[in-house]
Amino acid sequence: MNLTDKAVGFAICGSFCTFDRVFDALDAMLAAGADIIPIMSETAFSTDTRFGSAKDIQDQIRSRAGRDIIHTIKDAEPIGPKKMLDALVIAPCTGNTLAKLANGIADSSVTLAAKAHLRNERPIIIGISTNDALGAAAQNIGRLLSRKHIYFVPFTQDIELGESIQFNLLSPLVQIGCKAYIVGCKFIKSYFV
Ligand SMILES: Cc1cc2nc3c(=O)[nH]c(=O)nc-3n(C[C@H](O)[C@H](O)[C@H](O)COP(=O)(O)O)c2cc1C
Repeated sequence: MNLTDKAVGFAICGSFCTFDRVFDALDAMLAAGADIIPIMSETAFSTDTRFGSAKDIQDQIRSRAGRDIIHTIKDAEPIGPKKMLDALVIAPCTGNTLAKLANGIADSSVTLAAKAHLRNERPIIIGISTNDALGAAAQNIGRLLSRKHIYFVPFTQDIELGESIQFNLLSPLVQIGCKAYIVGCKFIKSYFV
């Protein structure tokens, strides 16, 4: 996989328990030469949880990407007109952000980044992580699966088998064809109710 000279937006939403795995995917893309433009939802950017402090998470992302994090709608807006990204990864994508994307709502940094980016007819890759994938989120997943320019990291039920077996069940580096690009993104877990 070679992502040299590709500008990849990497948008992180508030599924805090999957951040570690998402960082692995981020590292894989950096290793492949991608120029990473980090984006965080307002919730992901500002919430301290038992999975880490907001500042700590921000610092880890900033140091990986080597640049500041887009975390407001004001800073996300130029992504469209300035054609800033070749591809946009949203991982983890919460049920909340997924619902907004499916229904044309753009009131957060991540959803506005997606809307702005889509006008350039370039790919969005979604790594869904939600505990209502067979509940309220199911219809939103279905709507987005059929939408042009939107690709899903393959997802499955997150059964409690332990990390190693989970990863064995899945391809650790899923290759997704996006026009001429191949973006490596680790599987992001999806809870089924
Ligand atoms: C500790 C913690 C873990 C969470 N994990 C998830 C999750 O895995 N998936 C999800 O859809 N929402 C999860 N949420 C809820 C979202 O953070 C919440 O719906 C938020 O509004 C999402 O905002 P965003 O989509 O703009 O990031 C979690 C919340 C907390 C506090």
